[in-house]
Amino acid sequence: MTDRCNFRCTYCMPFDHYDWINKREILTYEEICRVVRLAAPLGVRKIRLTGGEPLLRRDLPDLVRQLSHIPGIEDIALTTNGSRLGDMAGALRSAGLNRINVSIDSLDPERFTHITKRGDLDNVLKGLFAAREAGLDPIKINAVIERGVNEDDVLPLVEFGREHGFVMRFIEYMDVGTANAWRLERTVPKAEILERIGARYPLDTLGRGDGNAPAVDFAFRDGKGTVGIVASVTEPFCGTCSRGRLTADGRFVTCLFSRTGHDLKARLRSDAGDDETGRWLEAIWTGRTDRFSADRLNAIQSPDGYDPGEHDKIEMITLGG
Ligand code: 5AD
Ligand code: SF4
Repeated sequence: MTDRCNFRCTYCMPFDHYDWINKREILTYEEICRVVRLAAPLGVRKIRLTGGEPLLRRDLPDLVRQLSHIPGIEDIALTTNGSRLGDMAGALRSAGLNRINVSIDSLDPERFTHITKRGDLDNVLKGLFAAREAGLDPIKINAVIERGVNEDDVLPLVEFGREHGFVMRFIEYMDVGTANAWRLERTVPKAEILERIGARYPLDTLGRGDGNAPAVDFAFRDGKGTVGIVASVTEPFCGTCSRGRLTADGRFVTCLFSRTGHDLKARLRSDAGDDETGRWLEAIWTGRTDRFSADRLNAIQSPDGYDPGEHDKIEMITLGG
């Protein structure tokens, strides 16, 4: 959607200054809709709008409305930092948005601001409740758990979710991009997150939604909802991954950890027709061999270990969650 963001989360884009992609290089709404129209007959049913912060793009509800009318598209979701949700939730819902994920890594206002650098917890919580008022359902809360930073937020977040009917989704800290200077020691493994939750609230494993979702879901044994964990570091799910990604500047990317991507924008802005571009997309998707997380786990477990600096990756802020 956009690489712009008004936050600077330590695990995503910690640099104060960042050279944003030039506006001319960012796909227009017409271009995005054309890509989705070409992708739908190839089997794409679900769309997730991410960033950067997607709500920084002007008139986002217009895009949601256009996407929701494309035949074959059944589900439109949004991942947001929540800072503008208070004003936008109602318009997004009316435009046809189905679901939403809001990033909240801590319920301690000071720690929240420390992690996001520019975020205000109160404002984000207002946005979260506005999303519920607007009827978005389910509402998930994404929390990246980082060693030495917010492990002790796991239980308070779980309790907040249970109390208010939000679905918590914990994400292992991943080495996506290079700006965050990721190190393995900073990842809190799924097993440890699970143990923290299960010791207080016993859980039963449900498995992956639709068999291919990134998160493994668990049900609270007392019937008070579910919680999900995305474990791309300790339990890679490359084998069932079905996500294609479109960067803000129009690259088609077949893995979150890709070095670069395929220049779709050049095709969209050339005189290539729909049939030709559709076949190009299909050929890239069916020919994909990505299994970065599985390879990373093999390297971690090998005697040489894993060197995150060895492999350049696109920043999360350009690529989206
Ligand atoms: N590791 C795990 N999750 C990340 N996100 C951003 N950077 C990382 C990272 N290094 C998540 C955020 C947000 C979504 C867009 O991606 O939590 O919810
Ligand atoms: Fe944080 Fe999301 Fe912005 Fe990255 S894109 S800095 S995770 S709010």
